Amino acid sequence: MAAGSARIVRYILLSVFVLAVFYYVSHSSYDGPALNTDSFTKGTGFGTHGTPGGLTGSGSGAAGSGSNAAAGSGSSGSSSSSSSGSGLTNQHSGLDAPMAMTPADAGWNDLTGPAPGPRMNATFVTLARNSDVWEIAKSIRHVEDRFNRRYGYDWVFLNDKPFDATFKKVTSSLVSGKTFYGEIPKEHWSFPEWIDQDKARKVREDMAQRKIIYGDSVSYRHMCRFESGFFFRQPLMMNYEYYWRVEPSIELYCDIHYDPFRYMKENNKKYSFVLSLYEYVETIPTLWDSTKKFMKNHPEHIAKDNSMAFLSDDGGDTYNHCHFWSNFEVGSLEWLRSDAYIDFFESLDKDGGFFYERWGDAPVHSIGAGILLPKEEIHFFNDIAYYHVPFTHCPTGEQKRIDLRCHCNPKENFDWKGYSCTSRYFDLNGLEKPEGYEAQQD
Ligand SMILES: *[C@@H]1O[C@H](CO)[C@@H](O)[C@H](O)[C@H]1NC(C)=O
Repeated sequence: MAAGSARIVRYILLSVFVLAVFYYVSHSSYDGPALNTDSFTKGTGFGTHGTPGGLTGSGSGAAGSGSNAAAGSGSSGSSSSSSSGSGLTNQHSGLDAPMAMTPADAGWNDLTGPAPGPRMNATFVTLARNSDVWEIAKSIRHVEDRFNRRYGYDWVFLNDKPFDATFKKVTSSLVSGKTFYGEIPKEHWSFPEWIDQDKARKVREDMAQRKIIYGDSVSYRHMCRFESGFFFRQPLMMNYEYYWRVEPSIELYCDIHYDPFRYMKENNKKYSFVLSLYEYVETIPTLWDSTKKFMKNHPEHIAKDNSMAFLSDDGGDTYNHCHFWSNFEVGSLEWLRSDAYIDFFESLDKDGGFFYERWGDAPVHSIGAGILLPKEEIHFFNDIAYYHVPFTHCPTGEQKRIDLRCHCNPKENFDWKGYSCTSRYFDLNGLEKPEGYEAQQD
């Protein structure tokens, strides 16, 4: 009996001790994260988004309006200039310190708390309908978890209709940066006056019969034309230098250990991709003719050391249909807003192929980047593992995937398969293919 009660007393004492330790630990660690969160907002210009626009009635009536930034700046968002003496500020003393780009660099595995270093003048951008809300929510979650929670970059949402309250509420709750909601003006989402409506309708009927994907869709065509020539000049996008395009239902499979925007800026990259493939010929039969016409009319815009070898196997005579898959892009808005790109887009637009055929924004952006940019200004983000139905980019090499904490199946990697054009990009740029690529060719 005596031994039994002594044991009970021991248990009670132990429990009290454990509880005390637990209380101490949880209590003292409470200050850490809280301080961090606070300085997160102050030190890095992380805006907290206030009440979603839909709730405050500041809807996205006109193009470019409807941001909730004003609502957000009422609270902690406005305190961006006040400095606090927290640990984060110390990290920021190395403002211009080089980014850790490999596991050998200091800070590589430092993935908790706000990332040190400067922020670029950059935003995520998404074209979406209200009904896409749950699919885009999934994408945002991936982007935030793998990257943006440590950076707090803004996110611009664009729609040809006003965004509803649910869309704004859900998306603004998920994005760590500020969110903005813009409505696309009619001129950017309709037939230009030079398009012959009858001719365009006949094309759609014909493509429907031939079962060409989206061949009969009017809205898909407006979307492709908008992404080709207008998204980067929306009033909300004029506030930024770089963009990262995100579509609904994408996945990111690896941690992103550095800032891709900063990589673009510091290495003078203007356009980037993770997946490339061949376009359906039926959707772009005369796109190359229009391109050649543009090249003839505007020799001043054609870059000398360009990526023609990515686009053509015969020095530019015919198109091999290779393109970068534009549902993922990190790129320079200033390049897209340049005379060279605008002249290129307007020349294509006048030829009418967005409506008389079904030109996609992927071949248009790719051809633009391929002929207007010196080849070293196009970047392949091997480190950004990405999925958009039905293709996956999963970095080649087991050590690479471990370093990046990836959860993709390497067998799904599309890079070296027969229908990918990424090999051409490597060859043209004289890049060495990663170890183990041969094993992934089929
Ligand atoms: C960001 O870029 C835009 C477009 O070039 C420019 O108008 C704006 O002043 C820049 N903002 C900052 C903070 O540099």
